[in-house]
Amino acid sequence: MAEGNDLTPSERSINDIQKNQQEFKKTFKSIIESKFPGWIDEINNKQSSILSIGFGGTATEFLPLDQEFPNAKLFGIDVGDFALTKDEVEIISEKKLNIYLKRADAGKEESYLDDTGEPIKADLVVIRSPNIGTGGNWKNVMKQAWGHLNPEGILYVTVNNDFELKRTKELLADVEIAIQEPIRNPNPHEKTVYFSEVYILIAQK
Ligand SMILES: C[S@@+](CC[C@H](N)C(=O)[O-])C[C@H]1O[C@@H](n2cnc3c(N)ncnc32)[C@H](O)[C@@H]1O
Repeated sequence: MAEGNDLTPSERSINDIQKNQQEFKKTFKSIIESKFPGWIDEINNKQSSILSIGFGGTATEFLPLDQEFPNAKLFGIDVGDFALTKDEVEIISEKKLNIYLKRADAGKEESYLDDTGEPIKADLVVIRSPNIGTGGNWKNVMKQAWGHLNPEGILYVTVNNDFELKRTKELLADVEIAIQEPIRNPNPHEKTVYFSEVYILIAQK
């Protein structure tokens, strides 16, 4: 692959996604390890499920989650037309993943059925940069996401500016999800064309 200004637009996009993946992974790991010591090992010692809601057109979170939780089954729900397919996610990840994706409204109970028709129960729900301020069914999404977490499961939400932080906190309070204090990303200035993580909101069930 070429460097810097010599990159084609699609190489630049891949570059940005990879940078986002590294950022996600580093931040996720250090925050979870400091807030919930031992939790990652516990999840890795059992059959676990991880759900990403609103994975969109970059699906940044799947490869880092697969690397951190190699035995987990990954699920993704996104309502949008631009949400990637499993094949596209695997091309970006350069790897086959144990993943099941569906295009559905995550604010609705019936969207949480897995590939065998069973309800999804997750140990971790990731909602990366939902951009709540731009609309969507997010109040119901938060409620449903919480309802589909296993006991001691973690809801991990990232937001990329102060306005989004305020909206997301209000919305979580509305659905009575008690969050930890928002944690600022140690590297908030590293912006890309995609969605940088400036604040992380975490709640454990
Ligand atoms: C700003 S994008 C974030 C994409 C991705 N998580 C990332 O970090 O690059 C927000 C995504 O949320 C999805 N979304 C919005 N409302 C939703 C809903 N009710 N259920 C599922 N996905 C939803 C949109 O389709 C969009 O792909």
